Amino acid sequence: MSAGASPSSPAWNKWVRQIHRWVSLAFTAGVIVNTVIIVVLRQAQPAFWVYLLALVPLVGLFLTGLYLWVLPHAAGWRLGRRTGGF
Ligand code: HEM
Repeated sequence: MSAGASPSSPAWNKWVRQIHRWVSLAFTAGVIVNTVIIVVLRQAQPAFWVYLLALVPLVGLFLTGLYLWVLPHAAGWRLGRRTGGF
């Protein structure tokens, strides 16, 4: 990444996309652990940390997902043109 790259540069895009991809795996694993504990082990009220296994990655996914969602539009604003879609 070049020094001083702007937050909507291709380098940032690449890293945020990678983080989003890996955190989505952690989120999926967290959901599976929750399902196993609640459905298979029949714990109606699992420990709070069990919920956090899915909730913490979901917050990361939400933030990086919002960034990826806004990015194409931000590029369009910079260039002073519409990117299509809406
Ligand atoms: C929580 C809110 C979320 C938002 C706002 C969001 C948003 C986005 C956006 C905008 C993209 C880029 C699409 C593109 O232009 O190619 C993306 C890609 C992706 N999202 Fe999400 N997402 C969210 C949650 C999730 C969840 C829950 C999962 C899976 C468990 C997930 C998995 C992925 C994957 C695998 C990609 C492709 C990444 C790549 O390029 O390799 N996302 N998401």
